[in-house]
Amino acid sequence: MNPPLEAGPPDQYGLVGHPVAHSWSPFIHGMFAKATAQHLVYRLFDIAADDFRRETLRLFTSGVRGLNITLPHKQAAAELVNELTPRATRAQAVNTIAFFEDTTLLGDNTDGVGLICDLERNLQVDLADKRVLLLGAGGAARGVIGPLLERELRVLTIANRTLFKARKLAAEFADMGQIGGCTFAELQGPPCDLIINATSASLQGEMPEMPDGLVGEQTLCYDMAYGRGETPFTLWARSLHARSTAKGWGMLVEQAAESFLLWRGIRPSTQPVLAALAQHT
Ligand code: ATR
Repeated sequence: MNPPLEAGPPDQYGLVGHPVAHSWSPFIHGMFAKATAQHLVYRLFDIAADDFRRETLRLFTSGVRGLNITLPHKQAAAELVNELTPRATRAQAVNTIAFFEDTTLLGDNTDGVGLICDLERNLQVDLADKRVLLLGAGGAARGVIGPLLERELRVLTIANRTLFKARKLAAEFADMGQIGGCTFAELQGPPCDLIINATSASLQGEMPEMPDGLVGEQTLCYDMAYGRGETPFTLWARSLHARSTAKGWGMLVEQAAESFLLWRGIRPSTQPVLAALAQHT
């Protein structure tokens, strides 16, 4: 039996993004709160890029204690906060903000640890010495590059529609390992061990044009996007007979658990939430 919940208004948390209506974060944080007997509410805030700074600060001044940040605001959030954790400094992208009573807004990035937890613990992937291809060079990609390189990959290639952004990201992380940046058209075989889709193309029902030969029978294709059924990326991977495909549900739940830990000091168990999501989706 969990202890009874505290009386008084619940602490307020939420997700800021554009769009956010599709988000499962309220469901996930609701389950975490129940399991850990934390008295809180978690809401969705759809805020466009032009209003991000003003409206997000307004949420904090109106009593919100913590926010998750999703596309397209992760880099803007890194500029909004007063302090960054070391991993958010490295990423220059923030997916979690905590508001402390001394008026500090602390920005963190739990995307990378969320992805690594899902790959290693849930999907049993050993990343050491692997050839990894990361598609996309936006806020979602930024968060995962450092934690991936810490796993001593053989090589990490960042491919992006806009070449300049892929090259810039590769240069920023060059001190951490073998990393390069290119366009999708410049990609070449041999097949990768792991391909991670961190573009937001799936949201538009699209998939970047990619050369053949990147996917082999040993390739795991991981789409950070999530939703019901296949995504354009997982369909592409299946058509090329990838070893397996995965969507970002596990990363979503693991990064949420890390955000919850920052806000509440408790890391909730993720398995019951993953099991519940598997039934709903
Ligand atoms: P996020 O926080 O999800 O990373 P973002 O910072 O807006 O959101 O970045 C979106 C990423 O998806 C970028 O890498 C973007 O490519 P560009 O840098 O060229 O803009 C990529 N992207 C979005 N739509 C895409 C599409 N239809 N095809 C290929 N890449 C796309």
